[in-house]
Amino acid sequence: MAKVRTVFRCSGCGADAPKWIGRCATCGEWNTLVEEIETPEAIAITGPSALAVAVTEVDITNAAPQPTGIGELDRVLGGGLVAGSVTLIGGEPGIGKSTLLTELAALWAAAGERVLYVSAEESTQQVRARAERLGALSESLYLLAETMLPHIIAALDDVKPALLIVDSIQTVVDPDLGTAPGTVVQVRECAYRLVREAKERELPVVLVGHVTKDGTLAGPRVLEHVVDTVLAFEGERHHSLRLLRAVKHRYGPTNELGLFEMTEQGLVGVADPSGLFLADRRGGVAGSVVVSTVEGHRPLLVEVQALVSLSPLAVPRRSAQGIDHGRLSLLLAVLERRVGIHVNRDDVYASAVGGVRLVEPGADLGVALAIASASAGVALPEGVVVFGEVGLAGELRQVAQTPRRLSEAARHGFTHAIVPALAAAGPASITAVRVSTLAEAIDVLRLSPT
Ligand code: TYD
Ligand code: MG
Repeated sequence: MAKVRTVFRCSGCGADAPKWIGRCATCGEWNTLVEEIETPEAIAITGPSALAVAVTEVDITNAAPQPTGIGELDRVLGGGLVAGSVTLIGGEPGIGKSTLLTELAALWAAAGERVLYVSAEESTQQVRARAERLGALSESLYLLAETMLPHIIAALDDVKPALLIVDSIQTVVDPDLGTAPGTVVQVRECAYRLVREAKERELPVVLVGHVTKDGTLAGPRVLEHVVDTVLAFEGERHHSLRLLRAVKHRYGPTNELGLFEMTEQGLVGVADPSGLFLADRRGGVAGSVVVSTVEGHRPLLVEVQALVSLSPLAVPRRSAQGIDHGRLSLLLAVLERRVGIHVNRDDVYASAVGGVRLVEPGADLGVALAIASASAGVALPEGVVVFGEVGLAGELRQVAQTPRRLSEAARHGFTHAIVPALAAAGPASITAVRVSTLAEAIDVLRLSPT
């Protein structure tokens, strides 16, 4: 069989180069060259052409998501897996992708659905050992230790599964392409082929993709355009908490967060994330503030911590963990100019505890108050949560889902909430203290510099 020849093509201007170079010689852009097949095979017309149909006539029965049985995964997927869709789960090695998918396979197999688990990395013995450990042994779960794409597709004909899992896409090769496994061409073309199989067979497919910290590995980046859904599985290796988010999702919203804990029994959904995040919290410490935030539809109580100390450096350090760096700078400027809290000669560290990322504006007030509290050396009173967006004028702005935030705080025993002036009401067990500016919030909590 003739080997396919590849070239490097600039993804900006489309110019070709015979080998990879860092900068496109034609348009001068950096890092835009991607390996491509030189002459893509002509696209054969197969079957009759599709007919245009009235929008009201489109059959959507197959587009309904089928629950996976893993609550946190369904939350992120907006209900479950859609037939014919391809989902990519990306994450660093060791984060728990194979564990999650083994659990998924086990649930479907236990329900009598055939599952084909292609392990292109581990032997069937290794996968069986994991499945055994997770209590996932079932006659409906088929394992295939195979990297060759044609063999994987042959196995689809053979097993006729209701779910295909490929772990991982980076190790799958199509021998016809002639390039080495893991190259951009291999990963992308194999994924294309699997997408086609998924659509033709109306089969949900889940692919695993490894990414390194900087996302450099060939694969997930180029794959994002090929698949329907991209999920990111994150967490710190030394921490048991795992976060699952949708980065791209053709069948639903991308703002829901799934939370798992890695245990001896595999991944377990976190039923009460607020309780988990607040478990190690010590009250009465300056610089610690509990924020009532929302991720998608779920309210979460998260502790924000700040530390302010005189800097030995000419340019003081600003460190943000789980908090947007730009947002931190903005809040420091507002504190400086609108409230008169001066930290421009101090190192400022701010972090969201527990590995969460606070990206929504409702966390502003918490970050600003944590810095004010740390700077003054005064702790917030017990039982107080806060939320609200801080504007450039130092005003507090309303945020979405106030009643949910208040209810979650009340449920965890908080008695007072510092909220924007126009915030909606919550349950009776929590007193909303309404303030219209950041300065007023700092006053109410007696965090003003003396
Ligand atoms: P794994 O799913 O193999 O990660 P990935 O496929 O993303 O590379 O899991 C990695 C880690 O999870 C491994 O260090 C062992 C641990 N683990 C548990 O703590 N409990 C379990 O039940 C399982 C199966 C794995
Ligand atoms: Mg794995």
